[in-house]
Amino acid sequence: MNRLFQPLQVKGMQIKNRIVMSPMCQYSADQDGRVTDWHRVHYPARAVGGVGLVIVEATAVQANGRISSRDLGIWHDDHIAGLAEIVRLVKANGAAIGIQLAHAGRKAEKDVPGVHEAPSAIPFSDAYETPTALDLQGIAEVVSNFQQAAVRAGKAGFDVIEIHAAHGYLINQFLSPLTNRREDEYGGDPDKRFRLLKEIVLAVKEVWQGPLFVRVSAEEYHPDGNHIEQYVDYAKRLKELGVDLIDASSGAVVPYRIDAYPGYQVPLAEKIRQGAGIATGAVGLITTAAQAEEILQKDQADLIFLGRELLRNPYWPLHAGRELEAPDNIPQQYLRAF
Ligand SMILES: Cc1cc2nc3c(=O)[nH]c(=O)nc-3n(C[C@H](O)[C@H](O)[C@H](O)COP(=O)(O)O)c2cc1C
Repeated sequence: MNRLFQPLQVKGMQIKNRIVMSPMCQYSADQDGRVTDWHRVHYPARAVGGVGLVIVEATAVQANGRISSRDLGIWHDDHIAGLAEIVRLVKANGAAIGIQLAHAGRKAEKDVPGVHEAPSAIPFSDAYETPTALDLQGIAEVVSNFQQAAVRAGKAGFDVIEIHAAHGYLINQFLSPLTNRREDEYGGDPDKRFRLLKEIVLAVKEVWQGPLFVRVSAEEYHPDGNHIEQYVDYAKRLKELGVDLIDASSGAVVPYRIDAYPGYQVPLAEKIRQGAGIATGAVGLITTAAQAEEILQKDQADLIFLGRELLRNPYWPLHAGRELEAPDNIPQQYLRAF
């Protein structure tokens, strides 16, 4: 029997299959971070295509924490109505829906208004501003903004929250010794570098009872950065804090070349799953039903996150269902085509 089309139960919520639409910035919000017609078509289309869980792109908890000036935002109550509409349309078409809460930190592009914040005043590259090192009050505000964003995500009706702690954005900048040169209680040893993420998880959990995922860059590649062993340790701590799943991505903390090949990040999901005993999501150059099925059969991950393949083919899950001889998942309106 196939695994890809077996439902997964997380904290009382059911995901109908193991196929997740990986969060992908669309750079299509309006100047104030609001949903546009692009999102109203883009996300529900993947629900029609049979995805089990759609995760909405990195959505900024602060205006100055956007990656680009066209990112979605969730820093104001005005954002709730637009997001609630996406939630309604996706759920009406049979998928569960999550949102990735994000703060870009020093990786906010130059045209993002406001002070760009980071643990330490080190720019990502010449293309970026030199960020301002957060003081303790600024850190407390970041934690509070993640919490308020979680409240708004609840009001909008999301099923899942994913905290973006990967790809060299603010939380990752605190976790990594490459970017965190602080000498206070938020920097130094792995324990102190973990403190911001820990406070954010605890603050979100005060206001959010649903499934909570965390995306990490489980390998930073640079020799002086964090490696998978450190992230197995962090995953154990996140499990203790009540996080439900680790979404195991990698890289982008500092400019560094990565050799990517099919399934290149799957061993990270597997090591965290085995080493920390927590559910994981595998992501990165997963493109075929057989490959996705094999990852699940080998117990390397619990969910399969698809990025670019779902941009190319929103109906991927429908074809995968046929290939794996799963019970029919074709919308009845499309049956005559299959
Ligand atoms: C257009 C685009 C936008 C992305 N935006 C995000 C994002 O908002 N948050 C995130 O965690 N990853 C983001 N990613 C990374 C994807 O979620 C995924 O991890 C990556 O593309 C590897 O998976 P794939 O080989 O299936 O595409 C983005 C990738 C693409 C191609």
